Amino acid sequence: MRTQVGIIGAGPAGLLLSHLLHLEGIESIVLEVRSRDEIEATIRAGVLEQGTANVLNDAGVGERMKREGFVHEGIYLRFGRATHRIPLAELANGRSITVYAQHEVIKDLVKARLDAAGTILFEVKDVGLQDLETTAPKVRFRARDGSVQEIACDYVAGCDGFHGISRPAIPSRRRSEYSRVYPFGWFGILVEAPPATDELIYAHHERGFALVSTRSPQIQRLYFQCDPKDDAKNWPDARIWEELHARLATAESWKLTEGRIFQKGIIAMRSFVVEPMQFGRLFLAGDSAHIVPPTGAKGLNLAVADVRVLARALTAVYESGRTDLLDRYSETALRRVWRAEHFSWWMTSMLHRFHDDTPFHHRLQLSELAYVTSSRAKATTLAENYVGLPLD
Ligand code: FAD
Ligand code: PHB
Repeated sequence: MRTQVGIIGAGPAGLLLSHLLHLEGIESIVLEVRSRDEIEATIRAGVLEQGTANVLNDAGVGERMKREGFVHEGIYLRFGRATHRIPLAELANGRSITVYAQHEVIKDLVKARLDAAGTILFEVKDVGLQDLETTAPKVRFRARDGSVQEIACDYVAGCDGFHGISRPAIPSRRRSEYSRVYPFGWFGILVEAPPATDELIYAHHERGFALVSTRSPQIQRLYFQCDPKDDAKNWPDARIWEELHARLATAESWKLTEGRIFQKGIIAMRSFVVEPMQFGRLFLAGDSAHIVPPTGAKGLNLAVADVRVLARALTAVYESGRTDLLDRYSETALRRVWRAEHFSWWMTSMLHRFHDDTPFHHRLQLSELAYVTSSRAKATTLAENYVGLPLD
């Protein structure tokens, strides 16, 4: 097999890259270890930055998002039993966020690729990358029928997430990794219930962080900080509701809406960046190159920002032989990555309880929250990072 760009991974990064390249007349093949059903059913992110929604719309894959997603112009911060609104759109030049589940974005992108006769090979195994430092890199894999196959390509895009094979294909002496693991995780649930709030609630509480998000008029998404080594089995529904009620308690008339919990899971939290995001003809994009804790809602958005830069750079190469954009890909992408890393770390640090918290540290968090919710300058910093800085 031969193609122009071999793409490893059919997450948001890989699928969108394949679609953006297709719009520019550039061929690609996407390899994915999981099945189509699995990738379309994995529950993950929910918040799209304004720039992400624009990219999907401009690429012609935003129809359903526009119909079924919710545009939010603010978020709430809750602490000390009081709720404070951060008016995102007012503070960030009218920019807002769209709440639309990641697996719905995946469905839209898979459909767009298959409708355009694009190639996505699902359920492949043993993917390996070769000759990355030559002009003829190769991707070897075992196809669903068990046969070993090889794709010859011009470039390889490593979009295979944090546990993929692309990043480790860069020799360790040629990459630097920066990371921080947090001493807590998020317990996430999906609930059959009407929305409890018109905008997301991020709550800081002595018992730990909690978040109220949404998915649809019938389904809500809630999270609360937990021990990352805990087991969802230790959390019968009644215990979950008790914890959420305690952490979301407010002096106002607001009430948490309960409903049937039909999905539970624990998510570990880490910050991670690899530099550079390139090795020869291999380019990393999305979670394969960087991870953020979900508090800033940035992971999916960074993946989209990376592939937009990469698609433009590859287009310049194929259209006019210009390689300067591709040469600068890592540098360009990392500027946005580090801003999002800082923002996500800051939101996480401000909103969670740390096991080694001293009363001093807790007072600092409360002071920070009071400042964010009273100073227009500080609230603007939150707002412009949360809705996403403009894509360059
Ligand atoms: P992935 O989505 O991880 O996709 C990688 C794909 O590669 C997978 O399908 C995988 O099966 C495949 N793969 C792996 N290894 C191989 C291999 N060897 N060969 C071929 N294929 C392979 N981000 C936000 O922006 N907003 C949010 O609100 C948000 N909330 C989140 C909530 C949760 C609970 C979680 C877990 C994450 C959240 N994120 C959020 C982060 C976001 O989901 C990720 O950043 C995003 O999925 C990254 O996309 P990706 O395409 O880079 O990687
Ligand atoms: C979600 O709806 O899944 C979600 C929302 C906001 C976050 C993280 C996840 O910060």
